[in-house]
Amino acid sequence: MQVEVGSTQPANLSTDILLFAVYGKGGRRSPAWGALNRAIGGGLATLLELQGWKGKAGQTISFPAPQGLRAKLVVVGSLGDRGRRSAESLRSLAVQTGSLARKRGLARIAMYLDVGMDRREALDRASAQALGEGLLWGAYRFDRHKESRDGGEGPTELYLYNEGRLNRPLLAAAIERGAVIGAAQNISRDLVNEPGNIINPETMVTFARKLADEHGLEIKVLDRAACEKAGMGAFLAVGLGAATQPALVHLIHKPKGKARRRVALVGKAVTFDAGGLCLKSASGQATMKMDMGGSAAVIGAITAAADLEIDVEVHGIFAAVENLLGAAAYRTGDIITASNGKTIEVLNTDAEGRLTLADALIYAAKVEPDAMVDLATLTGACMVALGPSVAGIMGTGRGLIRDLRAAGDIAGEQLWELPMPEQYREMLNSKVADIKNIGARWGGAITAGLFLKEFVDADIPWAHIDIAGPCFTDKPLKGQQFGGTGFPVRALVEWLSA
Ligand code: BES
Ligand code: MN
Ligand code: ZN
Repeated sequence: MQVEVGSTQPANLSTDILLFAVYGKGGRRSPAWGALNRAIGGGLATLLELQGWKGKAGQTISFPAPQGLRAKLVVVGSLGDRGRRSAESLRSLAVQTGSLARKRGLARIAMYLDVGMDRREALDRASAQALGEGLLWGAYRFDRHKESRDGGEGPTELYLYNEGRLNRPLLAAAIERGAVIGAAQNISRDLVNEPGNIINPETMVTFARKLADEHGLEIKVLDRAACEKAGMGAFLAVGLGAATQPALVHLIHKPKGKARRRVALVGKAVTFDAGGLCLKSASGQATMKMDMGGSAAVIGAITAAADLEIDVEVHGIFAAVENLLGAAAYRTGDIITASNGKTIEVLNTDAEGRLTLADALIYAAKVEPDAMVDLATLTGACMVALGPSVAGIMGTGRGLIRDLRAAGDIAGEQLWELPMPEQYREMLNSKVADIKNIGARWGGAITAGLFLKEFVDADIPWAHIDIAGPCFTDKPLKGQQFGGTGFPVRALVEWLSA
């Protein structure tokens, strides 16, 4: 997105959308408000009221631009209550505006922010970034398989009117940064939204190679034979029932200068989870193309790290596989061996994510990261616990979990810590192997975490993020899109940048 912050009144510019970001209700209005009111011949307050203006952050009202303006559409958008403006209110407004731009096939936005009476109301860096993120996020559509589509590509140019000369470069940079993160998040959403017949372990490898090429990442791919040689018996068992070849993909972002630290991001990459022989119901399978959402988040985050030249060495690792039920499929009761030599009794072929992650985590420890984070659509139990928008986080890295949660709060992606009580470990005791792959009836998100812990090097601070809920929306909130959300790419980028 092309961004400019300047001192020309947007009302004098040639643009597509003239956006007035205003506070929800009453109070003093800015000169910009007065200018718009005059331009439409008065009665702005009445007009808004008639259109059902409630003033909740993110609400927009739009109408064709009156004569005299060189814009096509006027949008009045709410920042919520005065004095309560946050990065989140700008994000909501930007999401709605981005979506509208996409829907109407409009690309250029010129924006007034209802400030100027109070210096404290000037735009801060975090809000400017949220503005960029929201515009891209809101403009996203997954419609490439449909004949009927919304018009255009969404916003490609943003002009922001800002009186404070000193702030202009800083704000423009923050908005651009937000747009890069929004675009990375949309890559992740595309991957989640593409169905299992299009995104499978083989096409994921092709995708990763192309991505690495385009964004200057290093890439290593361990094909099936290499994974076998490395002894990844847990990961490979999951793929036995599928016709596609599994592979472990390792992407690397190396900063140009010295890296402040080295981190490994490990993502679950089950491109479709039918449940295996412990087959899911049709409705249970319906959204299981999302089961590579962890790796999609890793891909989004490492892409942004490269594009933003973040000075951290990032290793993005995922073991791509499908969980189907062909003639060679792994069975309930099978005993398999992970690459660290631990044996696992499979008591449910639908608890496959943790098997793939076990080998991926063992592999990731070999790059000797300062911290390790895994992301996975791991358990329905985590959705039961935290609902559709909040991810569970647990692990051994106390400071790491604190930092990730703080990054999530800034990014508007909530991570809530679940405990890992030592006494639950015995729920995973097997009569015939070192561990079994399911726990007891209750606490399923936690026992899944405890399972993973067995395969993590105890010396490396580690956090596990269960994104089963927030990875995908099948009941979108107003103005949001069905499908992949890109969660928690923003939080990861924030954490990497901190
Ligand atoms: N991919 C699923 C978890 C999931 C469920 C993600 C719903 C998103 C939405 C995972 O592989 C799975 O099937 N987990 C089982 C584990 C159980 C068999 C111990 C589950 O949660 O039911
Ligand atoms: Mn499963
Ligand atoms: Zn799964």
